[in-house]
Amino acid sequence: MINKGNITRRKFIGTGITVAATATVITGCRMIQKNRHPVSSPAQPWPYPEFDVEQVRRRGYEFNYEKACMYGVIKAIAASAAVQYPYPWNTLPLDAFYYGRGGAYSWGTLCGTLNGGLFVLTLVLGDCPDAADDLMTWYIKTPLPTLYHDAYCRFRNQPRSVAGSPLCHQSIGSWIKVSGKGIHTPECFERCAKLTGDTAAYVASILNRIKKGDYKPANPLPEEVHDCLGCHFGQRAVKDDTITKMQCLDCHEVHR
Ligand code: HEC
Ligand code: HEC
Repeated sequence: MINKGNITRRKFIGTGITVAATATVITGCRMIQKNRHPVSSPAQPWPYPEFDVEQVRRRGYEFNYEKACMYGVIKAIAASAAVQYPYPWNTLPLDAFYYGRGGAYSWGTLCGTLNGGLFVLTLVLGDCPDAADDLMTWYIKTPLPTLYHDAYCRFRNQPRSVAGSPLCHQSIGSWIKVSGKGIHTPECFERCAKLTGDTAAYVASILNRIKKGDYKPANPLPEEVHDCLGCHFGQRAVKDDTITKMQCLDCHEVHR
């Protein structure tokens, strides 16, 4: 009663927005029009600008401190892409990506930075196993964190380690070994913040190269993994019994 005029106007504006949004969705994707139960999320692939890789790196570092690793990677890319494409980049449920911390609720499985990176790659590229292998392989063999954060970070020149695995458990473990610091120390938190920036930056660099049309995965799967999988994965393999691309020889011996 009291705010009748106001409510009516709000209702009117609300309807306007709904109509505009519906129009965008319908013109954006014909498949949604045909779908009898349309979902409201924006159609893939999402558009993206050429990224300033160092800016993305710094944002990843800073957004990690806001919440955590997976969240930090996704927000670094989203904040950078949203300048040019506020829609759809401002529609992400960023807070939900907190789940990726500590390799998914501290299970030490997939490193949250990779979980976030793979999510972003898939959003803008669609299904992308080659880019995914590139990101994962880069991560397992690169000494991290990089030193590119030293101009603005809290702890400079930190020790680096090679994770040897996409698992948070092994990644952090390798760093604890070279640094002597525990997980619940400011130094280890800092290390993971830098990894968040480094992974976001690597994702941005993959996307920049794809945009320019000169992308070739820079980090293919190790030969040995290919070798083993030749016999252990695939409908025509002798033994179709293995699903992983992790480094087999960390846990198994050569048997032939
Ligand atoms: C030329 C095909 C071939 C390649 C290459 C190959 N494997 Fe196998 N692997 C087999 C077969 C066949 C068996 C089953 C052997 C058996 O049952 O005696 C087997 C068995 C295994 C087993 C189970 C052993 C057990 O006790 O049952 C493991 C683990 C394994 N392979 C790991 C690997 C790894 C790691 C690599 C790469 C370093 C690899 N394999 C490469 C063919 C291959
Ligand atoms: C992080 C450690 C780890 C890595 C890396 C790993 N595996 Fe395994 N794998 C295991 C464990 C643990 C088992 C279960 C062993 C068991 O139950 O005896 C297993 C089981 C297997 C088996 C036996 C399946 C069966 O018949 O019981 C094969 C074959 C195998 N792995 C192949 C591979 C290949 C090929 C790779 C690389 C592409 C690989 N593994 C990477 C840990 C690993």
